[in-house]
Amino acid sequence: MIDLTILRFVPEIEHMISIIGGTGLEGRGLAMRLVIAGNQIILGSRSKNRAETIADEIRRLCPGSKIEGASNLEAARKGTVVFLAVPFVNQMDVLQELKMYLTEKLVVTVVVPLKFQGGRAIYVDVPEGSAAAQAQQILCTSKVVAAFQNLSAHDLINHDSKLEGDVVICSDDSRAKRLIMEMVGTIPSLRGVDGGGLENAKYVEQLTVLLLNINRNYKANVSIKLIGIQA
Ligand SMILES: NC(=O)c1ccc[n+]([C@@H]2O[C@H](COP(=O)([O-])OP(=O)(O)OC[C@H]3O[C@@H](n4cnc5c(N)ncnc54)[C@H](OP(=O)(O)O)[C@@H]3O)[C@@H](O)[C@H]2O)c1
Repeated sequence: MIDLTILRFVPEIEHMISIIGGTGLEGRGLAMRLVIAGNQIILGSRSKNRAETIADEIRRLCPGSKIEGASNLEAARKGTVVFLAVPFVNQMDVLQELKMYLTEKLVVTVVVPLKFQGGRAIYVDVPEGSAAAQAQQILCTSKVVAAFQNLSAHDLINHDSKLEGDVVICSDDSRAKRLIMEMVGTIPSLRGVDGGGLENAKYVEQLTVLLLNINRNYKANVSIKLIGIQA
């Protein structure tokens, strides 16, 4: 169980970060940025072999990084902070399966419910309000934090390039939210922005859909940066 009274985020000391669905582009990109920042990562997959292969690849690209591959189940069990990076259509099944290992833990969801139609991204309405709200409903004893939905895997995975932008973070647990804001701050040039409670996660998720459609219009790879915050 994570001790949320420890508010300073100190990589390598208090936290073992797991990524469920870590073999995908987003999970892999997050893993790279987080290991470079000095965190220990367990990359999860339905196939332990696949996770180990990707972990080896990341170790080769980022020498000295502390990363191992594991089954999703093992990753959920060992992680103190557990990222969820699977497609939205699979979120419910994955969480039902892992729920018992996530009790009381901090779960960070990057999931965006979207589909593509005629090349354009469309937000998929979720009865619970958002993918993050659905995750919190399933994981009723976990502290769900929504974050990183607006950062593209393409930007994350180019680990030599500077990441620029803001990561809006929403959660109903203010300590969990602060901890993830500090975690974001360990990644150079990224800033964590307090996005309020989990009820705001739907707007952050929807913004990703807009960004994808802007990317298509401009053949670009945009991210967001908010101005006017005096921090
Ligand atoms: N790609 C982006 O730029 C981006 C940006 C922001 C947010 N996101 C969000 O991040 C999440 C992951 O995105 P992604 O692009 O990395 O997706 P992805 O490559 O399609 O999937 C990620 C991983 O999910 C696992 N997975 C696939 N089908 C599954 C199933 N039926 N059951 C359980 N696990 C399954 C796979 O891992 P294994 O086969 O190894 O188990 C896969 O590598 C999505 O929810 C997406 O909306 C993505």
